[in-house]
Amino acid sequence: TMMRELSGLNSLEEQVKKRLGVEKVIIVSGDSDESPWVKSELGRASATCMKGMLEGENIIAVTGGTTMAAVAEMLTPELGKDILFVPARGGIGEDVKNQANTICAKMAEKAQAKHRVLYVPDQVSNEMYQTIVKEPLIHEVLTLIKSANIVLHGIGDAITMAKRRKTSASDLEKIREKKAVSEAFGYYFNEDGEIVHKVHTIGLQLKDIADVEHVIAVAGGASKAKAIRSYMKQDRQNTILITDEGAAKELLIK
Ligand code: BG6
Repeated sequence: TMMRELSGLNSLEEQVKKRLGVEKVIIVSGDSDESPWVKSELGRASATCMKGMLEGENIIAVTGGTTMAAVAEMLTPELGKDILFVPARGGIGEDVKNQANTICAKMAEKAQAKHRVLYVPDQVSNEMYQTIVKEPLIHEVLTLIKSANIVLHGIGDAITMAKRRKTSASDLEKIREKKAVSEAFGYYFNEDGEIVHKVHTIGLQLKDIADVEHVIAVAGGASKAKAIRSYMKQDRQNTILITDEGAAKELLIK
């Protein structure tokens, strides 16, 4: 629209897209570090973006986090009918309100759509893990997750995420030592976008993301620019980034 052109958001989107090498960039005005309502705007933009993608039956896999929780709040039944929300991965140590299971239930409620949950314990032995994934109900949900046509995820600052989850002292030390900068899907990445640590859970793995039709990353606030840059360092050509002006401007510095 005219307003976006006048405010320079369109040109900012082009610059950030070029810089990160992603499929598309959508920027909302403001900085979510400073004004909480900007997170809701990120949510509104995500809803609009998803609406344009829906075709036939849709399985949307979502991660946890406060940004995803804000996206959930902005969904309405207008989004579409044939949607099933599933959590992208099993529990990765977040508080209930920030968990993917909670968020996908909320999304389904707001959109008047369906959802499935995936409750698996965080820390299990390999033997137990092999048994759990063969449980028919779990197996069924995992199959649904792997066939998601849309993945909606947050990107976090590595240390913030490690502290927010109940990360062990030794893992926290490893994350620090290896200079992790960003986190997504339970993976921790360094400045070059290389994986330096991973939380062991079932569900979508990073390598699966490359084959998903639509991947939407939602992350805003100037303080997240470093994390966004790190996560986008590797090939994220099929990712649409929804962010805010605060993060975008910071991303273009250096
Ligand atoms: C977590 C996701 O729940 O939220 C992470 O599993 C993501 O992958 C993080 O990085 C982002 O959280 P927030 O609160 O900054 O949106």
